[in-house]
Amino acid sequence: MRLFLAVNFTNETRAQLLALQDELRARSKRGRFSTPENLHLTLVFLGECDDKQSASAIAAMEAICFEPFPILVDKIGRFKREAGDIWWAGLQENEPLGKLQQNLTDELAAAGFKLERRKYSPHITLGRDVITDEIPWKTEPFGETVNSIDLMKSERIQGKLTYASIFSRK
Ligand code: 2AM
Repeated sequence: MRLFLAVNFTNETRAQLLALQDELRARSKRGRFSTPENLHLTLVFLGECDDKQSASAIAAMEAICFEPFPILVDKIGRFKREAGDIWWAGLQENEPLGKLQQNLTDELAAAGFKLERRKYSPHITLGRDVITDEIPWKTEPFGETVNSIDLMKSERIQGKLTYASIFSRK
């Protein structure tokens, strides 16, 4: 199974993200836009895991300190790609988020996970293969308090990319 750790959103934040996605869609010639239920903030991507690794990931999530903290979306940005860019909603600089991501990464690495060494750049993917003349823009900040983090399973079900939480750390 393909696993990752993520923050899921309240319906209110989701609705605000969807409004931003609508703006992006209206300004784009084409793109594959994330479905409403798939909007999330990835903390750590684990990749293909067996049951033992899944249990280790849960143990790592339980081992770290977790305190609720606020997040704020304040921009729309992109990762440039040949075939069309990835566009995302970006977060305001956030120390608790950075620390949480680092603590999770350290705990998972100690448990034997081989993780990507790229610098963490928190983003909520709104669309892929997007063709637009737009440039990134700032938005009116909005957000919520992160009260839990989830271990997510990613699957293709009847051709549809589907994410499901299999464990929640509060
Ligand atoms: P993305 O939205 O920028 O593609 C599930 O695939 C989640 O893990 C997505 O949020 C995805 O980020 C993230 N992720 C990070 N590294 C990944 C990788 N190497 N392959 C697939 N997804 C990755």
